[in-house]
Amino acid sequence: MSGTRVRVAALADLHCTKTSQGVFQPLFAQIAAAADLLLIAGDLTDYGLPEEARVLARELSSVRVPVCAVLGNHDVESGNAAEVSALLSEAGVTLLDGDACELKGVGIAGVKGFGGGFGQRALAPWGEPIIKQFVREAVDEALKLEAALARLRTGPRVALLHYAPVAGTVDGEPLEIYPFLGSSRLEEPIGRYPVSLVLHGHAHRGQPQAATKNGVPVYNVSMQLLKRTTSDGRPFRVFELEVEDRAAVQPRRRATDAVAS
Ligand SMILES: [Fe+2]
Ligand SMILES: [Fe+2]
Repeated sequence: MSGTRVRVAALADLHCTKTSQGVFQPLFAQIAAAADLLLIAGDLTDYGLPEEARVLARELSSVRVPVCAVLGNHDVESGNAAEVSALLSEAGVTLLDGDACELKGVGIAGVKGFGGGFGQRALAPWGEPIIKQFVREAVDEALKLEAALARLRTGPRVALLHYAPVAGTVDGEPLEIYPFLGSSRLEEPIGRYPVSLVLHGHAHRGQPQAATKNGVPVYNVSMQLLKRTTSDGRPFRVFELEVEDRAAVQPRRRATDAVAS
């Protein structure tokens, strides 16, 4: 039984500013030619300003493929996340926040995520109320991811995050900021569902690829990282996912999908 291969482009950390008019259109045209679907793993804007979202919405008007995204920490900086989300949704972007969607037969579960650190050194809910509140936020985001994954029934499943679920794709960042770049709590639900791949951004100086403890591939698709590590400097990646009815599907890397050397 053969299926259809869907090309999924991914990137993160656009950090669109009020003066970014024209900056992203050539990139989006390149992506639209190379892929059937575009996933954006947060930090779409620089300060989470509606003016920035309006600029990005105009830039995205040239994209002729479905676009799905999660917000990043920069997108909530100014307290206007609802308006930023509304502007991008009006521009046709499917924004996920603890929700799931299916585009071109690919299931996508999306959540921003949060920090707290990794493994045995992860922050625990102990001591001051503010520490407990910090951990609670990470737990809540993990629960949202779990609920989103549970809604996907068939086809390849992609977990779309902003924060990293594993330390492997954060390596290269200063050790002091690891706890602010992701949380192992996000890895837990990924291990409970048949996830084909995990995409995130946020760690601009991390590593392009790692895996969860269960072997699910995790890709850091931060533009800043990909510009430095792909052989051609292309700031996005393209994955091919085979879409077929009720079949287990594995991601396949394109020949043109550059890997860090
Ligand atoms: Fe960023
Ligand atoms: Fe970020």
